[in-house]
Amino acid sequence: MKTITIIGFGNMGSAMLKGISLSMPDFRLQIIEKDIAKSKAACESFNATLFDSVSQISKSDIIILAVKPYDAESVLSELSATHFKGIVISILAGKTTQWIAERSACNSVARFMPSLAASAGKGAVGVCYSNALSIENRKLCLAIAGSLGQPYEIAEQQMHAITGLSGSGIAFGFAFLHGLAMGGVSSGLPYPQALQITLDMVEGAAALIRQTGTNPVEMISKVCSPAGTTIRGMYELEKGGFTALCMAAVQAAADRSSELEN
Ligand SMILES: NC(=O)c1ccc[n+]([C@@H]2O[C@H](COP(=O)([O-])OP(=O)(O)OC[C@H]3O[C@@H](n4cnc5c(N)ncnc54)[C@H](OP(=O)(O)O)[C@@H]3O)[C@@H](O)[C@H]2O)c1
Repeated sequence: MKTITIIGFGNMGSAMLKGISLSMPDFRLQIIEKDIAKSKAACESFNATLFDSVSQISKSDIIILAVKPYDAESVLSELSATHFKGIVISILAGKTTQWIAERSACNSVARFMPSLAASAGKGAVGVCYSNALSIENRKLCLAIAGSLGQPYEIAEQQMHAITGLSGSGIAFGFAFLHGLAMGGVSSGLPYPQALQITLDMVEGAAALIRQTGTNPVEMISKVCSPAGTTIRGMYELEKGGFTALCMAAVQAAADRSSELEN
């Protein structure tokens, strides 16, 4: 039985424990977290063993690094002192596989970019690998990424784009949901109901695009009847530069990710 150790039990570490324990029951799970008391109940409910420092782990095949980027340097130096020679999976924003490999003294590295939706087992997960990671281990990493959402294997330089579009982009999605719900309030619905309707509408839009295999532009032209209600609303979106604004938000987040890497 292989052992996976997650270092850092915050938002993402706990989402990963949940996802992996539900979809990959054949793994032994360990957690390393500074604050043991905070994590005890959650770890017990997923049958994971809890430690408070890297030096305590006796054996692990896979390490998942889920601390904040500013804590990573010290964690990796502790890890390299244990002479760990398994696979390191990093979810750190802005840290390359090479950066991880150099500091962990371990060449088999995968890098994931999930979003907060991983806690619901949803959303996109960008995945890339160090050159040294074997095909077999890439498959294993991809299966682990699949427990967090829909994995996409991408080139490492595309990590910035998926950070902008998905890792950060989920916040733009929340902003869009809120804005639409507020429009519902403005036209007469109470906010909780307007929000539920917005969620149903957005899920419906996504389902339609997936089922038909078309793109949003085709769908927009189907919904907009001449002199109808939708074209009036579309005009307001276009007048406000909606598409350009979405593009700029994703690009700005991707650019910031690139800055953090350098
Ligand atoms: N949140 C997102 O949406 C998201 C999306 C994609 C990628 N990421 C990446 O995921 C990583 C984790 O983000 P997060 O939001 O989950 O952060 P978080 O909630 O702050 O979780 C990090 C956890 O690691 C703990 N920790 C710090 N140093 C440690 C050590 N030496 N040993 C053991 N545990 C230690 C922290 O404890 P203390 O709080 O006590 O320091 C905290 O509980 C980040 O690198 C981020 O770039 C996050």
